[in-house]
Amino acid sequence: MSIHISAKKGEIAKVVLQPGDPLRAQYIAENFLENAKLVSKTRGMFYYTGMYKGKEITVGASGMGFPSIGIYSYELFTEYDVETIIRIGTCGAYTTDLNLFDVLIVENAASESTYAKYAWGIEEEIIAPQGNIFNIINETAKEMSLQAKATNIHSSDIFYRKDPNIPAIATKYNCLAVEMEAFGLFANAKHLGKNAATILTVSDIIPTHENISADDREKALKPMIELALESAWK
Ligand code: ADE
Repeated sequence: MSIHISAKKGEIAKVVLQPGDPLRAQYIAENFLENAKLVSKTRGMFYYTGMYKGKEITVGASGMGFPSIGIYSYELFTEYDVETIIRIGTCGAYTTDLNLFDVLIVENAASESTYAKYAWGIEEEIIAPQGNIFNIINETAKEMSLQAKATNIHSSDIFYRKDPNIPAIATKYNCLAVEMEAFGLFANAKHLGKNAATILTVSDIIPTHENISADDREKALKPMIELALESAWK
């Protein structure tokens, strides 16, 4: 057990898929894993461990924002000896060059957040995925003939804001989309010498206010889930 996860040691796999939403973790466990067992439900953050094509994989939620993914990813890496976390989430596109349902593989996460600096003394405002898992995901996408674009994204602390313009940091690093967790995950992995990557599905186009309907979300996320599972399996 760790402070926020009640699984016993050994009940979490070396590779964890981490959606933001606990119900998405449950959906993935029930529909993509065999013999999935619920190993933690503290605070409603479901963690399931099961088998994918003969390999043990855990899927469990991060919650929203850096404080939440900061806690869960840190405890997974340090208390459960997890080696690799693949975040699978949604993002808002800053540009109409992207379309709803597009799959993005995060090449760098840029943020104005002080999380990395105050947690670990990491001064950079842009952090890359850690280890080889980013390359594995890109290769796997090619093998699956899945269109997935490697790109920089903005990891933001803020969902609602007064200023409708694209934040300066996103323009500075040519970030095509925004989410709220990858930078915190990459910072933890960098500090701890672990592996981390993020795959995102575009759920909203910010300039036009288009978004994927709640009904479409499950099937919309299937290519990303399959890409993450196939990459985790390797
Ligand atoms: N995740 C999905 N859409 C988002 C948005 N517009 N801003 C931040 N995170 C998001």
